[in-house]
Amino acid sequence: QTMRDFLRELPKCEHHVHLEGTLEPDLLFPLAKRNNVSLPADFPSSAEALHERYNRFADLADFLHFYYIGTNVLLLEQDFFDLAWAYFQRAAAQGLRHAEMFFDPQSHTTRGVALDAVVGGFRRACERAETELGVTSKLIMCLLRHLPVPECLATVQSAQPFFESGTVQGLGLDSAERPFPPELFTECYEQARRFQPELRLTAHAGEEGPASYVTTALDLLGAQRIDHGVRCVEDAALVARLASSDTLLTVCPLSNVRLQVVQHVRELPLQKLLDAGVPFSLNSDDPAYFGGYVLDNYVAVQQAFGWSRQTWARVAGAAVRGSWCDDKRKTELL
Ligand code: ADE
Ligand code: ZN
Repeated sequence: QTMRDFLRELPKCEHHVHLEGTLEPDLLFPLAKRNNVSLPADFPSSAEALHERYNRFADLADFLHFYYIGTNVLLLEQDFFDLAWAYFQRAAAQGLRHAEMFFDPQSHTTRGVALDAVVGGFRRACERAETELGVTSKLIMCLLRHLPVPECLATVQSAQPFFESGTVQGLGLDSAERPFPPELFTECYEQARRFQPELRLTAHAGEEGPASYVTTALDLLGAQRIDHGVRCVEDAALVARLASSDTLLTVCPLSNVRLQVVQHVRELPLQKLLDAGVPFSLNSDDPAYFGGYVLDNYVAVQQAFGWSRQTWARVAGAAVRGSWCDDKRKTELL
């Protein structure tokens, strides 16, 4: 059995995948046509040219420019279903068993798409994935931190029924990290928690932003995990805190390389986190943009760190334990 086969068969959970970031060029162009959406004049005109452009993002902002153009081709409930279903099929083929998935309602509602269409399409794909692929999942709604706080608060209000019914089980914070520190969104997180006390909370922090953003996400938003968080290593006290509080970091290796957070996977502080006892999971972030799904991220880390099968069992186990599924499902995955 090759290491790749071993890693494929390892039951994998992913906690950091943006559904809009699973939009492959092979779906983007047909959807643009189907929905009569015109792309910018200077946009690459073929899937091949687009893949080539995705190979040289300068930073997070450069990526987000393409990411938001991509979101514009999504209009109908069926589009959101097609997007998520394509992701589930690809990831399940790589040994994905459980996914906690982000979506960005504001990238759609600002274009007049109803939140019902977005969540409805995603929900339907989640149900099919569970029935046909045995993949369980949860939806996490993210706020776009580059938008005005009152708009984010209105988005939280509009999601009240989905929080109350449990259709959306988590709240997150994404988009351009700097200069938008977590504490700007304290009221948004408080309001969402009033709608649903059981709501799970997370936030992107410590990707391009400093370690202090990780601290304020924990202290002021009440984040129960941190998305990326790799820059926590710049603060030794924070590393100790993450370990003692058993706070999961959702690390995205191929994303960090493509967005030039690091120049190579081996520069990521993964061994340091392991040694310090900080739990982390390995995730694809925006797989259509960063050149790999969940197994591809595991393989890239294996090529960089050369871990034993025992260490890999520990890493995959930490991802199961850090998941937001119930204990029964965790037992199945361990
Ligand atoms: N939106 C999609 N992917 C993101 C990332 N890696 N960081 C911030 N916002 C995002
Ligand atoms: Zn992300």
